[in-house]
Amino acid sequence: MIDPRIENYAEAHSSDHSSVLSELYRETHLKVMHPRMLSGKQQGRFLSMISHMIQPESVLEIGTYTGFSAICLAEGLTKNGKIYTIELDPELEQIASKYFRKAGYEQQIIPYFGDAMNIIPSLDQIFDLVFIDADKENYSNYYHLVFEKIRSGGYILVDNVLWSGKVVEPLKKGDKDTAGIIEFNALVQQDDRVENVLLPLRDGLMLIRKK
Ligand SMILES: C[S@@+](CC[C@H](N)C(=O)[O-])C[C@H]1O[C@@H](n2cnc3c(N)ncnc32)[C@H](O)[C@@H]1O
Repeated sequence: MIDPRIENYAEAHSSDHSSVLSELYRETHLKVMHPRMLSGKQQGRFLSMISHMIQPESVLEIGTYTGFSAICLAEGLTKNGKIYTIELDPELEQIASKYFRKAGYEQQIIPYFGDAMNIIPSLDQIFDLVFIDADKENYSNYYHLVFEKIRSGGYILVDNVLWSGKVVEPLKKGDKDTAGIIEFNALVQQDDRVENVLLPLRDGLMLIRKK
């Protein structure tokens, strides 16, 4: 959506990520299906920056994939802070766990495997930050499920809210992903319990603060 020259310029003027994240990026592209799902350098640095600003004790991530964004978010955790990250596909456990270890976060990143819709209600924590980056159809459901588990003044970050620009195109029949994202964006916009800003970073990132 953004002129590639501008994207390259922005990336060239942002800090580099760690060598472990470079290695994970490479291994994901070589060995795992759908590597485009990984947050990437620019968004990864943004997640890390936000995490450093919030300095969370407790983070929930919905949609681990190979662990790239979890590691970025872990960079800003407090000393004893934890990230609980949920992934549906158990085949991703090996690569994600390997890189949590390599990055030095094996004690701080707690992976769960299964359907986030079932796992979230079983989590007893109150979160400072939630990152939603899983199946688009369920975005509104995840928002409702996590809302009471976020402290007042806490944050929700939500990926892919522009969905390659499809949110401003006529909705195609049967396109449940786009419909899910449009419904979610409208839900947040109308919710007076929060303040929100939609950033056109990469595929669109919604930043929400619970009042
Ligand atoms: C876009 S990827 C996550 C990318 C990752 N956050 C990153 O930036 O590196 C979305 C992930 O959500 C997972 N997923 C889809 N539906 C899910 C569900 N119901 N519960 C948990 N995870 C789910 C997919 O298997 C996929 O690995």
